[in-house]
Amino acid sequence: MRGSAFSRHWSQVRNWRPTKAKCVAPCRSLAATLLLAFVAPIVSAEQPDSLAFQRVGHLRHGINTSNWFAQAGDYSVQRLRTFTTADDIRLVHRLGFDHIRVSIDAEPLLAWQHKQANGIAFMGELDAIVKVANQQDLAVIIDIHPDSRFKQSLLQGGEPVERFGMLWHALAAHFAPTDPGLVFFEIMNEPEQSDPYRWQGIQSFVAGQIRDAAPNHTIIACGAHWSGLEDLLQLSPLALPNVIYTFHDYEPFAFTHQGATWTTPAVQPLRDVPYPSTPENIAKNVEQEPTLAGQFFVQQYGLDRWDAHRIDVTLNFAERWSELNHVPVYVGEFGVHRPYAAPVMRAQWLRDMRIAMEKHHLGWAMWDYQDNFGAVTKKDGQTIPDPAVIDALGLTLPSAATP
Ligand code: BGC
Repeated sequence: MRGSAFSRHWSQVRNWRPTKAKCVAPCRSLAATLLLAFVAPIVSAEQPDSLAFQRVGHLRHGINTSNWFAQAGDYSVQRLRTFTTADDIRLVHRLGFDHIRVSIDAEPLLAWQHKQANGIAFMGELDAIVKVANQQDLAVIIDIHPDSRFKQSLLQGGEPVERFGMLWHALAAHFAPTDPGLVFFEIMNEPEQSDPYRWQGIQSFVAGQIRDAAPNHTIIACGAHWSGLEDLLQLSPLALPNVIYTFHDYEPFAFTHQGATWTTPAVQPLRDVPYPSTPENIAKNVEQEPTLAGQFFVQQYGLDRWDAHRIDVTLNFAERWSELNHVPVYVGEFGVHRPYAAPVMRAQWLRDMRIAMEKHHLGWAMWDYQDNFGAVTKKDGQTIPDPAVIDALGLTLPSAATP
């Protein structure tokens, strides 16, 4: 069985027992050491991973095509063809993006792997989009973007991990004939794994499956939890070459997620949060918070004085991790929830981020194309790019005459 390597390795870690009954912290670190021994590079990465650096050159400025092949509920061919279209992909190219990060739900992929009709139809639509994008030299990141339930299932022992490895093996084999300079495999969006050591083992196992099925393609790996910068900084690079490392950056959260309903409760009541922040200019937002915890959260945002300099200092750490490990780093998501953010401040944060990412040699993909963080608005059959966003991203609106 393909996944048995993971079970064998994992059972070594799982079955290890302390000799003293009440050993907590030291035992954990020994288990961690055992696991790290498995994932530590077999060859020392003293030289830059030149192929990965070459490949990341095609991931300089991208956009996330969200809520299309993932997080949608309805994956009928009818919706897949109309929510975002081949014309949208052509527009993305004309706007000057060089890649799309396509979030893809695990369930329809499993249906495809098990040869179910709905899964086969889903894959047909995905194949068509990859083709349309690649024909225009737009690279595509195949990002497995499952729901939390799927991610949590990976915590239930070795079997779900082996199944996940088999899914990736099948997927990588399917896309192996594509141009490896234009199709990338991102193992999992925001894995939500609370144990970074275990995630390191899972990721290393799955990467091996991908490499086995598509040896020339570049893999994108990430840190545990929600793939933030701190998760990246704690990650040890995989034992494989030709891997790009990613993180997501939505800091400061009080600004980027103002009014969002699906995440930390403190952001939900927030409206018109200013950026840059000062202890004085957030006073009215502190009042929007009904709880002390919420008020503390917003007060911190003011005291932290978020601005271009702070973003720059933060992103410098990603560049340093990249240099230390001789591997490229890529920011797969950043963006601002748009319903309650002042457009001019949203554009300012996007600009500050983009300038700092470029300075620190980090390719990026904005979240998202057309949804609630969007770069375009779709209305009455028209797709209207937001000029302030496009400009903040350093791109240019195409003239009507551009084909
Ligand atoms: C999640 C989306 C969310 C976005 C911003 C993504 O990784 O999948 O559901 O809207 O992050 O929070």
